[in-house]
Amino acid sequence: MLELKNVSHSYEDDVKTLENVSLRVERGQAVAIVGANGSGKTTLLKLLNGLIFPTSGVYEFDGAPITRKALMDAKFAKSFHRRIGFVFQNADAQLFCGSVEDEIAFGPRQLNFTEEEIRRRVDDCLELLEITRLRRRAPYVLSGGEKRRVAFACVLAVNPEVLVADEPLASLDELGRNLIVELFKTLRSTGKTLVFASHNEEFISEIADFRFNVEKPNA
Ligand SMILES: Nc1ncnc2c1ncn2[C@@H]1O[C@H](COP(=O)(O)OP(=O)(O)O)[C@@H](O)[C@H]1O
Ligand SMILES: [Mg+2]
Repeated sequence: MLELKNVSHSYEDDVKTLENVSLRVERGQAVAIVGANGSGKTTLLKLLNGLIFPTSGVYEFDGAPITRKALMDAKFAKSFHRRIGFVFQNADAQLFCGSVEDEIAFGPRQLNFTEEEIRRRVDDCLELLEITRLRRRAPYVLSGGEKRRVAFACVLAVNPEVLVADEPLASLDELGRNLIVELFKTLRSTGKTLVFASHNEEFISEIADFRFNVEKPNA
C-alpha cells in the first residue's frame, strides 16, 4: 500500500533529516514509527501524506509514485488525499472552520457528497469520537484533547483507506487516551492501514504489527 524506497530528505540543502529510508506497509497493516525526539518521525509522516517530497529515492502509494509533479494533477491529488488521511500532532494546524460540525463536513463537502450523506457522516463521526455535544462550538475554543478528537473526526469523515497520525496519544488524559486506543483497535479490525508515531509502548504493542525505527542521520 505504501512504499518508501531509499528515501532521503533535507529541509535545507546541507542537513539531512532522513537518510536512505526504506519502508513497506501492506494494506491493512498497522505500523508504529518510533525514534527519539528530532529523529524524523514527523518528517516521515509528512512524506507519506505528500506534504513534502523525497530529495532522493521514491515514495509509492498503491504503486503510484507520489511526487510534487504528480500531485499538481488536481484529479490525482484529490484521489490521493481522499485515500490517505493525516491527523497532525498539533490540531490547531488543521482546524479552521467556525463550528465543529462545519469542520467535520468540510472534507465530505470537498468530495461533493449529497447534503444527506454529509449529515450522516458528520453525525457518525461526532458519535464515534464522543463529541456530539461540541457540534456547534468553535474549534478554537476547545481544549487540546477535544481538538484532537475533532481532528480525528474530520479525517475519518472522508473514510480514507490509510490513516496516518502523529503522536495521537500525546498530551491526552487517560480518558482521551483510552478513546483513541479503542478507536485504533476498531480501525484495525475494519482493515484500515494505520501508520502512527508514538512513544507509548503499551499502545504500540496493542496496535502495531511492527515498529519502524527512524534515526537521525549522522551530521
Ligand atoms: N520545517 C523544517 N525546517 C527545517 N528543519 C526542520 C523542519 N521541520 C523539522 N526540522 C528538523 O528535522 C529534524 C526531524 O524533525 P521531526 O521530523 O519533527 O522529528 P520528530 O517528529 O521525530 O521529533 C529535526 O532536526 C528538526 O529540527
Ligand atoms: Mg514529531
